[in-house]
Amino acid sequence: MRVELRDIRKYFGAVKANDGISLTLEPGKIYALVGENGAGKSTLMKILSGYQPPTGGDILLDGQPARFHSPADALAKGVGMLYQDPLDMPPFRVIDNYLLGRDRRLRLDYKSARAELVALASRYGFAIDPNATIDSLSMGERQQLELVRLLAGGAQVLILDEPTTGISAEQKEILFESMHKMTREEGKTVILVSHKLEEVQELCIYAYVLRRGKLVGGQELPCASEALVEMMFGQLPQRSRRPAFTLGTPVLELQDVTINTYQLTVPDVNLTVRAGEVFGFAGLEGSGQRLVLQACAGLMPPGKGHVRLGGQDVTGWGYHRLQQHGVGYVAAGRLEEGLVAGLSLTEHLILARPEKQFFIDWPGNRAAMTERIATYQIVGQPETTADALSGGNQQRLLFALLNTPLKLLLLEHPTRGLDVRSADYTWQLLYNRRADGTAILFISADLDEIIAHSDRIAVFSGGRMSRVVDARETTADELGHLIGGQA
Ligand SMILES: Nc1ncnc2c1ncn2[C@@H]1O[C@H](COP(=O)(O)OP(=O)(O)OP(=O)(O)O)[C@@H](O)[C@H]1O
Ligand SMILES: [Mg+2]
Repeated sequence: MRVELRDIRKYFGAVKANDGISLTLEPGKIYALVGENGAGKSTLMKILSGYQPPTGGDILLDGQPARFHSPADALAKGVGMLYQDPLDMPPFRVIDNYLLGRDRRLRLDYKSARAELVALASRYGFAIDPNATIDSLSMGERQQLELVRLLAGGAQVLILDEPTTGISAEQKEILFESMHKMTREEGKTVILVSHKLEEVQELCIYAYVLRRGKLVGGQELPCASEALVEMMFGQLPQRSRRPAFTLGTPVLELQDVTINTYQLTVPDVNLTVRAGEVFGFAGLEGSGQRLVLQACAGLMPPGKGHVRLGGQDVTGWGYHRLQQHGVGYVAAGRLEEGLVAGLSLTEHLILARPEKQFFIDWPGNRAAMTERIATYQIVGQPETTADALSGGNQQRLLFALLNTPLKLLLLEHPTRGLDVRSADYTWQLLYNRRADGTAILFISADLDEIIAHSDRIAVFSGGRMSRVVDARETTADELGHLIGGQA
């Protein structure tokens, strides 16, 4: 299917999220859509997939004008989209999600639907259990299910909005293979929205670049990455250096901490993180690193062992109490765990303050939020609701809500969804905190990020923590071996 967008416009009040965008996509190819945070990528793709109507402009499919009333309507006409935030229904089973919005008959034929789901999944190398519930699946599996649902619904054009931000390296390989299959063997049109330019270079044949709601250019791929980056930002952003720092006294001490869940046991973690230290956890998703972070945040009580904060035993304390004692936590699920979709930025700030007041000082909080919007370079107003921010700006909001000073900062995927310039800026802000003596413990799926920013690193594999390695003396290869469990 050949896709043409003509002069697409989308205005939110004074914000011109899309300001006259025209582009063409040929079948059988993988295209990239790139651009800085808030450039208008998700907005454009939501229009192409029927999630929201444009303010103006036309969509043509194989030369025929098309108008979509809903994502289901767009899918029926051949366009399917995997959203930046999953749209599935967590309490439901896989099979129910698969059938959602598709089968309108009263009696659902589960048996043949199950067989169809399994067959289609295996064609693309996905392994999904139809009877599992969504909340037991990893992000990568939820994504595979959604893709299969779109393919079964007849998608000829597939849009993937930052599909690799929350999935394992292995799932990423499978996803890329499936994208090649869809285009090369099945002649589908695929559009990838991504900030990971290496992936874009590897997969796509052409990149469209957006900046501030406008199409600023197109580029055949692969190309010199600087050319692409320059087009995205209008200039080459400078990469900042990592300041040297002398570590202080121990802030966080884990002594024989053991965590048991019904899925995984993490035995006997012993670890000390000192003031000003940046400590990275590597490992495949679900290997135990997140549980340890949650134990430090008071969100997962350890079955055994002790957690100490600045020498004080805080084992069994909840997050709210730890927060009052200088602990901050940034969760991976932006809209599921970290933010409340319908609340404004100011309301978020009020909720995030550790001290609770009887009367709320609205003007004071609004002013404080205005200041944080500037510091964290959030594209939005104090009144903007969290769901109206672009993905990267939601990530910045999570940082803006952290209190100052902090003794300990726990982060899951700190730069997920950020463009290269904002990722760099975020680490600058983190280094400022380190200079104030904050100990930082973070998880990342990006080994290069872990090596570049950590002082020390530990790798998790099947619930076990490896020996601690010095970041200056390790390589991505060595970490990769540890992740595979070959110590
Ligand atoms: N529902 C909405 N209401 C108001 N403004 C919106 C809404 N959706 C998006 N915007 C604004 O439109 C602009 C473009 O957002 P969009 O989500 O398309 O950016 P993006 O390129 O996908 O960025 P990112 O890389 O951060 O995901 C942003 O300034 C955003 O705040
Ligand atoms: Mg987006």
